[in-house]
Amino acid sequence: MRGVLRAVFLALLASARVSAAHQEWPWNDASLPPAQRAQMALDQMTEQEKLSLVHGVIAAPWGGKPKPDGSIGSAGYVPGIPRLGIPALQETDAELGVANPGDVRPGDTATAMPSDLALASTWSPELARLQGQSVGAEAHAKGFNVLLGGAANLIRDPRGGRNFEYFSEDPLLTGIMAGSLIGGVQSRHIISTIKHFALNAQETDRVVLDARIDPAATRESDLLAFEIALERGRPGGVMCAYNQVNGSYSCENNWLLNEVLKTDWGYPYFVMSDWGAVHSTVRSAIACLDQESGEQLDTENFFAAPLSQAIADGAVPEGRLDDMARRILISIFAHGLADKTDVSEPVDFAASDRTALAIAREGTVLLRNQGLLPLPADTRSLVAIGAHADRGVPSGGGSSQVIPRGGIAAKEQIGENQAMIFDPGSPLEAIRLQFPHARVDFDDGSIPARAAEAAAKADAVILFVDQWMTESADAQSLSLPGEQDKLVEAVTRANPRTVVVLETGGPVLMPWLEKAAAVLEAWYPGQMGGEAIAAILSGAANPSGRLPVTFPVSEDQLPHPKIRGDPSGAPSGPVGRGGHYGAMFTAVYSEGAAVGYKWFFERGEQPLFPFGFGLSYSTFALSELAANVSGQTVTARATVRNSGKRAGTAIPQFYLTGPNGANILLRLVGWDRVDLEPGEHRGVAVSIDPRLLATFDQGARRWQIQPGSYKLTAGFDSRQRELTANFELQPASLPP
Ligand code: BGC
Repeated sequence: MRGVLRAVFLALLASARVSAAHQEWPWNDASLPPAQRAQMALDQMTEQEKLSLVHGVIAAPWGGKPKPDGSIGSAGYVPGIPRLGIPALQETDAELGVANPGDVRPGDTATAMPSDLALASTWSPELARLQGQSVGAEAHAKGFNVLLGGAANLIRDPRGGRNFEYFSEDPLLTGIMAGSLIGGVQSRHIISTIKHFALNAQETDRVVLDARIDPAATRESDLLAFEIALERGRPGGVMCAYNQVNGSYSCENNWLLNEVLKTDWGYPYFVMSDWGAVHSTVRSAIACLDQESGEQLDTENFFAAPLSQAIADGAVPEGRLDDMARRILISIFAHGLADKTDVSEPVDFAASDRTALAIAREGTVLLRNQGLLPLPADTRSLVAIGAHADRGVPSGGGSSQVIPRGGIAAKEQIGENQAMIFDPGSPLEAIRLQFPHARVDFDDGSIPARAAEAAAKADAVILFVDQWMTESADAQSLSLPGEQDKLVEAVTRANPRTVVVLETGGPVLMPWLEKAAAVLEAWYPGQMGGEAIAAILSGAANPSGRLPVTFPVSEDQLPHPKIRGDPSGAPSGPVGRGGHYGAMFTAVYSEGAAVGYKWFFERGEQPLFPFGFGLSYSTFALSELAANVSGQTVTARATVRNSGKRAGTAIPQFYLTGPNGANILLRLVGWDRVDLEPGEHRGVAVSIDPRLLATFDQGARRWQIQPGSYKLTAGFDSRQRELTANFELQPASLPP
């Protein structure tokens, strides 16, 4: 009884506290619209308080000074305004797991999720949302309220250093997956960003690169990915990029920030800079940057005293500072940052693990299988070779690097200052569990002749090869690093019953392809990756991953056969205060919207593996393709059937080609993921986003549907599209 009374008393006390808080701060009334709450708070703020919201610091020891007071320790911190109940922004990277840069929170670990490329290979918005929920929950429990995630840049170059953080070369796939992930993060009382807005398509010289591109083409490609992700995920912040776009830095680019983002798309929240991406006070403020991040990395604290001075001088209208602060406050209120402060909820790590495992399993792509996989259950002897497969799986480097729960499994030094980090979950151990009756040996692969000898003795070989990719640097070639191609040659010669498991940050060349009986692309599969790979090898899981990027046969097939810029000379990352950013150099994206598979299609080039491709242990058939048109609503329908002997997942894909003048060479316009028992069939229907039927008219600043006959095709990848249905469209304009 006393316990009940105590509970009642505590509840009354809590509600008294809440109402006291409400009396003190009427804007804490969560039933009011965020914009109204923001205005009420803003009305009480001094100019200094508004200014304090619009610039943040690195939340780690820096320049001889300790970690800023009040910060948890992470990428960024913006102090709050306790007088008004406005919380500090505690900002952490990123969507692959909660990062811990330089071990600033000693010993703190997080679930290491598979790379975004693995996630995109699932083509599953549900899994993207689950990943966002898990990472968001872990971030929230650590006290963070801003996740610097939502990396929605298009993969324009397969050598891009951050491709593992990005989703795909296609705007629809990227937009849907990134938006779903952002939505998941934000369901956990966290603001998610979307980044890096825009055209941060390569790492080489990223701070001195001016990306030149036709504005209409980028509305149909890179910006369309952001637009779709913004609509779907409603991220509370947009992070502008390091590079320039058409002659103006992204963070002071009036066209990008003012015209496209805030006007055409009506974006209500705030734009924060990337760390070290601000170059001016007045230009940035006028062009609509709302917050300078990690100001120690900029050459000046542009949004601190210089902004105050610019307002005093009349160079920046005072109303603009209000607008910046209001946008930040709206986002804070809209995402519950001022309402929900309880971080005591225990994290469901089992759910994080289940999600990580499901993504790794469903995002692994079976690229080739000459009858070797799944390996028979009665296999007597196996040898696993290479890539620290006895310890763990590789991960990508840079700001998104996670220190995995369970600790770092292995480290490989790269140059003087960098290390490739292996997440736990030993594939070797997982293979042993899947094949309890087999002898499973390991060879580290460092001596090809020795590895070949071990391979020759085994019933089958599982050969792991890897490629380390990191922020700030691109791959200089698409070949597997080091001597790994030679290792594959030697091992496959010794034993053709070899499955090559690629653990890469993007596409690689495979000069040995014909010699390997099977090839699996496992990407960076995260800390449950070893288990996922083993389940696919044994057939406990049927592979369902499909490529979100084209694998070229050679770099000569790419729009830019060589990475532009100087990988060794000019700075490739943000330069500290007083450092210079070097001379700008121009990278012309003359391919425009013809990114990835569209480029290959336009040029009639045959890739090594096309976008959308992936095998299963079953087979599928598509039939009865139809396009139903009602005004600007086009619905694609087809029937998909499991024509094989095992249950499996089909991913039927719909593509569109437009009439002359429509500039629609080939576009993915929809897909579905369908689980089917053998012999089972199911109807799929996809409503096509009208923007994918349209061409962007830059002069009129709107999407136009051109009249004429359109061709809908369907198949299981971007090349194998055997079904066709034609339909007519009338001319129409869509809003911007
Ligand atoms: C990266 C961002 C990251 C930020 C904070 C920058 O170098 O480009 O993606 O969120 O650092 O760590």
